[in-house]
Amino acid sequence: MKKLYLQTHGCQMNQYDSERIAKLMGRMDYESTDCIETADLVLLNTCSVRDRAEQKVYSVLGRWKELKERRDGIIIGVGGCVAQQEGMNLLRRVPHLDLVFGTHNIHKLPEMVEQVQASRSRPVETACYREPSYMEDARGRTNVQGAKAFVTIMQGCNKVCSFCIVPHVRGREVSRPNAKIINEIESLVRQGVREVMLLGQNVNSYGKTSPGEISFAELLGRVNQIDGLQRIRFTTSHPQDLSPELVEAFANLDRLCEHLHLPVQSGVDSVLSRMRRGYTRDEYLARINRLRKRCPHVALSTDIIVGFPGETDAEFADTLEILRQVEYDEIYSFMYSPRPQTVSAKIYDDDTADAAKRIRLQEVQSLQREISLRKNRESIGNIEEILVEGKSRLKNGQMMGRTRTNRIVNFIGDETLVGSLLPVRIIGATANSLIGEELTAEHVSDFRSEGELA
Ligand code: SAH
Ligand code: F3S
Repeated sequence: MKKLYLQTHGCQMNQYDSERIAKLMGRMDYESTDCIETADLVLLNTCSVRDRAEQKVYSVLGRWKELKERRDGIIIGVGGCVAQQEGMNLLRRVPHLDLVFGTHNIHKLPEMVEQVQASRSRPVETACYREPSYMEDARGRTNVQGAKAFVTIMQGCNKVCSFCIVPHVRGREVSRPNAKIINEIESLVRQGVREVMLLGQNVNSYGKTSPGEISFAELLGRVNQIDGLQRIRFTTSHPQDLSPELVEAFANLDRLCEHLHLPVQSGVDSVLSRMRRGYTRDEYLARINRLRKRCPHVALSTDIIVGFPGETDAEFADTLEILRQVEYDEIYSFMYSPRPQTVSAKIYDDDTADAAKRIRLQEVQSLQREISLRKNRESIGNIEEILVEGKSRLKNGQMMGRTRTNRIVNFIGDETLVGSLLPVRIIGATANSLIGEELTAEHVSDFRSEGELA
């Protein structure tokens, strides 16, 4: 068998794409390896959402030059958002690069690799398609590992956030037909998957651009009926599209986990308007309140951008204020970086110095650490059901799982528990994770009979 080394940058969408790449190449007798030195095919799956993504890609590719010199016949390729954006430029600037595949062309990769092998030509595929079939592969997934799986339900985005490169590199919204999604999840469940994460740039607008397709809330209802599936999650949602039906889904669907990632980006109307987010601070808060009314224990996470063009100290203070008000469970915060082709890069000066952005980022993060720590401590003593995912990142021999609200719980246990749903008692907390202990069999049956566990 030949060997595939695959480096992935960026989001969950890219992780899913990388799994798909590994599966496709697996069918061509490539097995995945962590050792780049022994690989026959070396691929970089890139992300261009933030920072100097292009420079990063060119510097990784620069380091890979010597692989080409050392190993005869090695093939080097680049995919993902930077590939989509740069296309031919990548081949021009990197003579040892063999192929470039864009975000809509993963299905073409096996063919491209064959082309390189046969003729040493240097194929580039960056076309975008409106038909959802580019997201399908001839056969379903193979070799699912673990109890969790990603499932793409749509790609692209029709929103116009002024800072965001995604619509430019992932194209317009395209939804997969619901039957394909259900089939994929049923097959994953047959292979032991207990939890699915439905993926898309803006999953709430699932189906909207496909006449006759069901809505996202309806799709969740159907997924909720799949026998053997225990947990459903999804990401990402745009606040404008958090529909009343979706709020009801959180209230009614037993397998839908009580966690919503709802990026707010900024806490002040002036910045939200420059970002072209399409909602005001009050509208955002009203939606969250409606959701909390119907699903009181829902955990919330968000994305924050600091140092957006023109952001004053007072505007930044309003972002801190919304964090205090909502009390998110978790946030992802970023320093604004102008991205190619985006409106904000074209019409606004990137006028906050990096040093000032860094200070704002630290302020946001330290405030959130306090909030997360306080909220995590409040859960000490609770019994929570976790899905055991594997070894803890703490590298202390512990195992880890996640609560339905997406909290990480580290606990002492053995590896045979991976994939099981386990009730644990929370006995400690940090800002980032909880510490749990397995319940004794006696406790479990006590709690089950007292109805303390779902
Ligand atoms: N809806 C998408 C959003 C993709 S971008 C999704 O599937 O997650 C993820 C986050 O990156 C955004 O919510 C935003 O907070 C951040 N981001 C995007 N463009 C950015 C930029 N130019 N500068 C800084 N942060 C950015
Ligand atoms: Fe980007 Fe806004 Fe869409 S953040 S992915 S343009 S919702």
